[in-house]
Amino acid sequence: MRIDIVSLFPEMFSGPFDASIIARAREAGVLEIAVHNPRDYTDDKHHVVDDYAYGGGPGMVMKPEPLFDCVDAVQAMAEPRGRVVLLTPQGRLLNHDVVAELAAAPRLILICGHYEGVDERVREHLCDDEISIGDYVLSGGEPAAIVVVDAVARHQPGVLGSELSLEEESHAQGLLEYPQYTRPAIYRDLPIPEILLSGHHAEIAKWRRRQSLIRTARRRPDLLAKAELTEEERRIVRDELATD
Ligand code: ADE
Repeated sequence: MRIDIVSLFPEMFSGPFDASIIARAREAGVLEIAVHNPRDYTDDKHHVVDDYAYGGGPGMVMKPEPLFDCVDAVQAMAEPRGRVVLLTPQGRLLNHDVVAELAAAPRLILICGHYEGVDERVREHLCDDEISIGDYVLSGGEPAAIVVVDAVARHQPGVLGSELSLEEESHAQGLLEYPQYTRPAIYRDLPIPEILLSGHHAEIAKWRRRQSLIRTARRRPDLLAKAELTEEERRIVRDELATD
């Protein structure tokens, strides 16, 4: 997969893309990332990328020409043209399903907005999609682009140690993940649940599923509405929510 990022601050990506999962995905050759500065696609002396809003009002708006010209040039650099995604607090909220959908594309072009926003013609005629990483406002789309790249990188084949990790982790099945423990079995007088030492795989799987259900019911009951549960599992959830 190839991800192109269009940003006025390319230096913001050097740390995050050079460590951990993203670096591993790049090294494995399953993820190619390139960052492009729309300022390089201006033709005036001062490389102006923003301007006052028509109709007045506070703040500056990102001009359409540098963004259109930058994306045109980036699309011409490689095949396929890619899905153009604007990072904006007005976009679709990012969740597991949206990440899986983005991760399945062969190429993404992520546009990071700045200032008071981007000229509406960019949204309407340049972008295929708009994504928000939460209901709060960042000073620019860059941290959101890093979040998208990280989440999408995990879905590339061979990036996680085991493909199973992806299926088991929180949100993959619409539930939060069960609690995890590692050695030592007793730490500061705190033992791990005994079942995990039993070596009984079927019982451990049952315990984990139950913990997932209980944890989701307590912390994120909103997720349960969409999760696929058996009658027995619905009963476990009902009992858990009834005991306060
Ligand atoms: N740019 C500014 N705020 C944002 C948000 N919450 N999500 C995505 N892009 C943004």
